[in-house]
Amino acid sequence: MIETIRTVGALRARVRAWRAEGQSIALVPTMGALHRGHLSLVTAGFTQADRVIATIFVNPTQFGPNEDFSRYPRQEEADAALLAQAGCSALFAPSVTEMYPEGFATTVSVAGVSDGLCGAARPGHFDGVATVVTKLLLQALPDVALFGEKDYQQLGVIERAARDLDIPVRIQGVPTVREADGLALSSRNRYLTPDDRAVAPALYRALTEVADGLTQGQAAETLCAHATADLHRAGFSSVDYLEVRDAETLAPADRFTGRRLRILAAARLGAARLIDNIGVE
Ligand code: PAF
Repeated sequence: MIETIRTVGALRARVRAWRAEGQSIALVPTMGALHRGHLSLVTAGFTQADRVIATIFVNPTQFGPNEDFSRYPRQEEADAALLAQAGCSALFAPSVTEMYPEGFATTVSVAGVSDGLCGAARPGHFDGVATVVTKLLLQALPDVALFGEKDYQQLGVIERAARDLDIPVRIQGVPTVREADGLALSSRNRYLTPDDRAVAPALYRALTEVADGLTQGQAAETLCAHATADLHRAGFSSVDYLEVRDAETLAPADRFTGRRLRILAAARLGAARLIDNIGVE
């Protein structure tokens, strides 16, 4: 059994007790429906700190009005068992009113890195993410907080917010965990039908084709246009974006000149919107 904490006060008391024993703390924020990708964040947390606290909170403010907030999978008991098995030290699973009490009126909005990509496809999404993550960081004040690189733009937004707001927490990205056929693990993969699931690895293949072309000196625009057409042919109903960006600044990039790049994509397949990205070094 894992200790489950419901209130900010109890979270702070738990962290204070561990601090008094000289223990360091890692935080792994999640929205639950845990998979091996999340558990790899817990494992990475233990390489950085003595205690790892996972959080589960399906954050309403990061979902748009027509998005999947109400059907987002909620399975706290199963998640708690997975976290216990992974040796996680505690679970913070607050209610919506604990996180957003009556009168709540503050939004953290990060300019620049939030623009384009998922920021364009999901207006308001990154404000919701930045706000809830800022709250979680300030509530727990861990030494380090870990986030998956699968949400690469999100990771950039969180790094920027933590730096700009002088939140004394190290933000660490952890590499994406994939199925054997390349599909990035995601809680939303469960929306895929068996037929969709057979098509889904085409997203990772499209990214790797663009990466190969870039390292051969080809132009990003042509490569992305071909890869987008490939995704439509494979059965994706739409492609929100498939773009090449500078890995650090997320500024658009034309071709590979030696600076690290990131190829990022979001595309819809059946009832799922899948996102993925890979690096070019
Ligand atoms: O990546 C997620 O699961 C969420 O966006 C996060 C970081 C837990 C904030 O709700």
